[in-house]
Formats: sequence, structure tokens, C-alpha cells
Amino acid sequence: MLFPDYRPRRLRQNDAFRRLIRETVLTVNDLIIPLFAIDGKDIKNPVESMPGQYQMSADHLVKTAKRARDLGIPALMVFGIPDKKDPLGTAAYAKNGIVQKAVKELKNMVSDIVIITDVCLCQYTDHGHCGVVDGHTIDNDATLDLLARTALSHASAGADMVAPSDMMDGRVSEIREALDDNGFVNTPIMSYAAKYCSSYYGPFRDAAESAPQFGDRRTYQMDPPNALEAIREATLDIEEGADIIMVKPALPYLDVINRIREEIDLPVAAYNVSGEYAMIKAANKMGWLDGEKVMMETLIAIKRAGADMILTYFALEAAEVLKR
Ligand code: PBG
Ligand code: ZN
Repeated sequence: MLFPDYRPRRLRQNDAFRRLIRETVLTVNDLIIPLFAIDGKDIKNPVESMPGQYQMSADHLVKTAKRARDLGIPALMVFGIPDKKDPLGTAAYAKNGIVQKAVKELKNMVSDIVIITDVCLCQYTDHGHCGVVDGHTIDNDATLDLLARTALSHASAGADMVAPSDMMDGRVSEIREALDDNGFVNTPIMSYAAKYCSSYYGPFRDAAESAPQFGDRRTYQMDPPNALEAIREATLDIEEGADIIMVKPALPYLDVINRIREEIDLPVAAYNVSGEYAMIKAANKMGWLDGEKVMMETLIAIKRAGADMILTYFALEAAEVLKR
């Protein structure tokens, strides 16, 4: 089919034609909203590098969760900012930790929205790493039990799904076993399976106060040039019992999302991370691009690459746009 016999513009001539042949559709059902929980009452601290995002006390979390639910957003993800940090991140698996309390409150006050919790130690350790530190190395196997305890404490507080983001080897099976042994056989695990060591997490580390105090995360998070390794990570996590496979970040790793989609038959999640959000917000503020249009184009690109669901700080804004 060669020009002039085939003219692709025939099917683009008006909105109705364009809608008719549209291959990818973004709906509110694709969105997961990340939320930052902090102790206290009536607290809503703006995150400077993430305009429109806040550290929130439980009352505001509930309000935001209800708004998300009313817009049709099917799930939220809770991150905690604890009062105290220590070498073993004990606040991560404390019965009355910040995430555990927030989840209880959300569970009590808001229905019809899936409550997911991020399972990691970095917000809770004084050194800011995602695992137990031994000298200047991160001890993989010593971390597993703490992650399993964290996940179990989240499930016990009422979390509907847990999402380990630490990138320690073997943590999915350890968490699966802890959940099963304690009667949480129906609590799924969304695994941050292909999580890259990315500078796009910068603004998040402001929001969650979780920047590593020495070194970096390169010995546990994935090396950005690698894509086949993402398949190995995903395959391993599936064998260990993961229910949903996540790729993170999203925009600079669309090829990885696509490969995982082609080779893996589990639902695929993509995390449109803090830096991806901040870039669009900043450029919009400068008047250099149309933030709303770029937001929608970005989300559809992530969907087109193969994501079944997208964790995004744009969730509320995108849901509003989709409604109109
Ligand atoms: C914690 C965690 C991070 C993110 C999600 N969970 C930060 C990190 O690994 O440094 C990043 C989210 C974002 O940038 O929006 N392990
Ligand atoms: Zn971490």
C-alpha cells in the first residue's frame, strides 16, 4: 500500500474518525494515587519539588482518598514518614507505625478503594538505605525478615495489597510466606520487580525524607542500561509469588515496560515517578509547555507501552481531565 493509493490522513480527518481507530484508551481504572502519610492532626505540608503533593496527616489522607474514590480511582499507595529513624528501621514494622495507623484510618473511613502499601526500610533507617547496613554494604539476607515483618504488619493493619520496593533478592518469597503463615493468603504482592537506580527519584526523597546518608543504591537497584535483566528480575519475582510486576521509573523505561508486557503474562504496573512529575510541573510553571496536555500524553504513552496500571502523582488531575 503506497501513496497515492494509501493515504493515512483519510482516517485522521476528524475527531470521529480518530476516535474510531484509536488503539489505546486511558481510563480512570488505570490510575493509582501515591500518598505520603505523616503523624499529627490537620497537617498538610507541601512538597516543594512536587507542586500539588503533600505530606498529610490521617484526616487529610482520608479526604484525599475519598476524592480519589469518588473520581473512580481504584487504588492508592501509602508511603510513611516516621518520627524516628534507627539503624534497623524498626518504625517500619512497628504495630503503631505511621503506615499501619494511616491504613487503619483509611480502612475505617473510606470504602471501595484498594489500599496498597509501599514496603521498604529507607524512610525508617537513619542511614537511608533500603536494607540492613553492615559497614558500607547492604546485607541482603539480614533484610528479608524485616521486610516480611513490615509487609505482615501492613496486612494486619488492613492493607489490601503490599508492594515491596527495596530490591533485595528473595524478598517476595519471604513476604509471601509470612503472609500465608498468618492467614493473609488473599493479600496480593505488587512487586517493584524492575526498579532502576534512577536520579528521577530525587523529589520523592524530599517528600519521604529518605535520601541515603552515604553511597547510593547501585548495589541493589538495577543498572539503567540493562533490559534483559529486567526479564530475569520479573521471572524470579513471579516464581517467588508476585501477583503484579512493576517497572519503575516509567517514561525513561518504556522499552522495558513493553518487553515485560510481551514476555510476562501477569498484570504490569508502571511507576510514573516523582522526577517525571516534577519536570512537567516545572516546565508548565515556566510556561514552556502545556502541563495538562503533556500529562495526558505521558500517561497514554505509558499505557501504550503495555502498562495495565500507572502509579502517578497526576492521578487526581488526570481523573478530572478524563471526567470532562
Ligand atoms: C522507596 C521508594 C522510592 C520510590 C518509591 N519507593 C525511592 C527510592 O528508591 O529511592 C520512588 C518514587 C518516586 O520517585 O516517585 N524504596
Ligand atoms: Zn527503599
